[in-house]
Amino acid sequence: SQAFSLAVIPGDGIGPEVIAEAVKVLRAAVAGGAAGFELAEHKLGAEHWLATGETLPDETLARLRAHNAILFGAVGAAPGDARIPSGLIEREMLLKLRFSLDHYVNLRPAKLFQGVPSPLASPGEVDFVVVREGTEGPYVGNGGALREGTPHEIATEVSINTAHGVERVVRGAFRRARARRRKLTLVHKHTVLVHAGHLWRRTVEAVGQEFPDVAVDYLHIDAATIFMVTDPARFDVIVTDNLFGDIITDLAAAVTGGIGLAASGNINMDRTAPSMFEPVHGPAPDIAGQQKAAPTAAILSVALMLDHLGLAEAAARVQEAVEKDIAGRGTAARATAEIGDAIASLLAVG
Ligand code: IPM
Ligand code: MN
Repeated sequence: SQAFSLAVIPGDGIGPEVIAEAVKVLRAAVAGGAAGFELAEHKLGAEHWLATGETLPDETLARLRAHNAILFGAVGAAPGDARIPSGLIEREMLLKLRFSLDHYVNLRPAKLFQGVPSPLASPGEVDFVVVREGTEGPYVGNGGALREGTPHEIATEVSINTAHGVERVVRGAFRRARARRRKLTLVHKHTVLVHAGHLWRRTVEAVGQEFPDVAVDYLHIDAATIFMVTDPARFDVIVTDNLFGDIITDLAAAVTGGIGLAASGNINMDRTAPSMFEPVHGPAPDIAGQQKAAPTAAILSVALMLDHLGLAEAAARVQEAVEKDIAGRGTAARATAEIGDAIASLLAVG
């Protein structure tokens, strides 16, 4: 059986609780001997920064690189915690990881499972994935403020879109579409964001030549938010930039039952560094330590990880166990560990 070394970053708030269940389910999924996982826990996040002043030191980053994959909980300060500079942990730790490890495909599936109430009256069969670019766009911190604090202040955030960066994520999205229902929707706003928009459009057109079997569609971001609510079943694979992708994946999560079910993979498709799998939700400090958080998003992220590591069969079993658990018990409140136990025992049965 294959041996994998897995870095685990539980992080802050509910991170450790949901990650404990994700690890439990991972163990159950590979108990049959399909693969062995050696886990190494890394302490990072807001609490760690308060204790040590470290966000993501170079040595830690180097150690993380040596693993086959990273399982990540959630990080960040409680809102209004004045001890922690706003956005510090997000930028210097989470985004630094995504950028340094070249996680250019931020994969975020949105599937409405049986038994999950959608806020939509008749959502139809919702099953799509968003391929959000993960290393560029307005997230790179390219900007500044002139005459800061004066009435004449000028603040800029310049979105970076490189031909290399756009092409690789678009190709990744086409590949996903080919493996699914063969429909790709580019979401952007090229009528206004002319320069980046045209690069994205040209790239989709060019790469699309290699995928004549995939139907290509285009939506402006504002129209996409309408369709996500009025007809989410129309989507198969959406490809979009880092910021638009951030926004529509929260909307996609809301439409498919909430952020407690939304999984993600930060994937380096070239495998030059480990990919990282994390629930889309944050640390939710208001409910931390109370066994109130659903670990489902973290567990579904384990399924994405197994799939990425070539363990498609184990991935499918985790996914099925989650779907079975939800179909059987719905989304009524249960303790975090109770949900993890239920899913792990479904895996044990077969
Ligand atoms: C997410 C989060 C992050 C993002 C934040 C915490 C920086 O919202 O994973 O979607 O914007 O990417
Ligand atoms: Mn987000």
